[in-house]
Amino acid sequence: MLSLGQLLIFGLLVNIGSLVKSSDNCTLRPRGSTKFPKNFSLGVATSAYQIEGGWNADGKGPSIWDEFTHENPDRIKDRSNGDSAANSYQLFDLDLKALKELKVDHYRFSIARTRIFPNGDVSSRNQKGIDYYNTVIDKLLANGIEPMVTMYHWDLPAEIQKLGGFTNSVIINYFIAYAEELIINFGDRVKTWITFNEPMQTCKPGYGEGGSAPGIKSPGVGDYICFNNILKAHAATYHLYRSKYFEKQGGRMGITLDTFFGVSKTNNEADVDRALQYLLGILAHPIYSKTGGYPEIMVKDIAKNSQAEGRKVSRLPDFNEYWKATIRGTFDFLGLNFYTSKYVERPSEPLGENPSMLRDYDIEETADPKWLKAKSNWLYCYPLGLEGLLKFVREEYDNVEVKITENGWSDEGELDDNNRILYYKSHLQAVLNAIHDGSNITSYSAWSLVDNFEWSKGYTEKFGLYSVNMKSPKRERVAKKSAIYYRKVIETRSIPDEF
Ligand code: NOJ
Repeated sequence: MLSLGQLLIFGLLVNIGSLVKSSDNCTLRPRGSTKFPKNFSLGVATSAYQIEGGWNADGKGPSIWDEFTHENPDRIKDRSNGDSAANSYQLFDLDLKALKELKVDHYRFSIARTRIFPNGDVSSRNQKGIDYYNTVIDKLLANGIEPMVTMYHWDLPAEIQKLGGFTNSVIINYFIAYAEELIINFGDRVKTWITFNEPMQTCKPGYGEGGSAPGIKSPGVGDYICFNNILKAHAATYHLYRSKYFEKQGGRMGITLDTFFGVSKTNNEADVDRALQYLLGILAHPIYSKTGGYPEIMVKDIAKNSQAEGRKVSRLPDFNEYWKATIRGTFDFLGLNFYTSKYVERPSEPLGENPSMLRDYDIEETADPKWLKAKSNWLYCYPLGLEGLLKFVREEYDNVEVKITENGWSDEGELDDNNRILYYKSHLQAVLNAIHDGSNITSYSAWSLVDNFEWSKGYTEKFGLYSVNMKSPKRERVAKKSAIYYRKVIETRSIPDEF
C-alpha cells in the first residue's frame, strides 16, 4: 500500500511526465535567423466590445452584442456581458501605460461602430464617439505607437440587424458610409486599416449556427449569404479608399481572416486542402486568388448538395462577373488570426444537420490528446500548424504580405502564466521559420493586451498579457509573467530562451 506522501509524489511525477510530453509539441527549433527583420512590427491586439465597457456612454447606441448579452444572459457562460468590461472607454490611459511598458511598435484595436453611428446610419453621427478615438489615436502616436485599426469587430448596430443584418445587401452601403466616416476623421493618422475581423465568426455562429450574436439559426443558408455581403462590403470600401483617399492619405487596407490548420494523420493532402479551402478559402479566394470567386471545390460541392435538396440554385450565392472582378485584388495585405490546429479527415457518416456548412464541409475535426491544451476547449499548442498555414498562404495566394493580426493562449488568468510564454515562444518561432522559408510577414499582434470579455465564454477564459482587477471600479492592470517575456522579445527583436 502506498502512503499519501508516496501517492502525491507519484501523482506529481505522472503530472510532470504528461506536462513535458504535451509541451513537447509546443516548441519549435529555429531554422534561420533568430532575429526579426528590421522593419518587422511587434504589437498587441484588442477589440472594442471586449474591453471598452461604457456600453451606453456619451450617445453610444446598442449593438447586437449588447442586445444578445442583455436578452440572453444564459447564453454567456458566466451570464456576464461587456457593459463595463475592462472599462477602456474611461481608462484608456491604463492601457496606454501597459502598451508603453511593453514597448510595442503598434496597437491593433477596433472602433465601436455604435459610438460613431449609434443607429448604424450616418444621420445619427456621434461627435463624442469620434472624439474618443481621436484621443486614443493621438495618444498612441505621441508615444511612438502605430495605430492599426479594425473597422468592424462584430459589434453591428442593433438597428441594422432589424433589417436582417449581414443577410441583407443593404448592409454594404451602410458599411461604406461608416468606413468613409472613419477614413475622413482618422485617415490622416491611421495608415493601417482592417475592414472586417474574422468574417467566418460573424457569419457561421452569427447567422448559421446561432450561438453568437445576433443568434440567427439558418445553417448552410444565412451564413453563406453573410459571407457574400461581407466580401462585397470589404471590396467596395477598398475601392472607395483607393480612388478617393489613398493619394492624400497613403495608408494600406486589408481584411483579417481566421482559420486553424488541418493536420492529416495519414498525410492526405486532399483533406488538408479541403479543410483550408472551406475555412479560409471561402473568404480568401475571392480576394487573394488570381481567378477570384469562391474555391472551385466549394462551388461544386454546395451546388451538388443544393440540387440534391431539390433547390434550383445553390445555397452558396455566386458572384456575377462584375462582383468577381470587383472583389479580386482588393488588398494591400492579408491579416491572419491563428490560434490552433486540428486533425482533419473525411468522416464515415455525414456530419451536422442537413443543410449546414458542416454537412457541406464534410470533414471531421479532432485534437491530439498529446497537444498542450488551453482553457478554451478548441485551443491547443501546435506551432507547426502556423508554419503549415503560412506555407499554404505563400503558395496559394502568391506570397501575399501577411500580418499576423492575432495569436494567443487562454488560461484561468494566473500571473505565473508559463504556458502562455511557451505558446508565444513557439509561435513566434514559427513566424521566423516561415520568414526564413520565404513568407512575406511584416507584423505580429499578440492577443491580447488585457484580459477581456471572451464572447459566449464571458470572463471565464483569459487571454491577456495583463490581468484586470474586475472586482475594482478602477480596473487596475497587473503585468503577467508573459508581459515581461513579450517585452523582452520586443526589446531584443528575438525570442529569448530565458523567462
Ligand atoms: C479571435 C477574435 O477576433 C477575438 O475577438 C477573440 O477573443 C479571440 N479570437 C480568442 O477567441
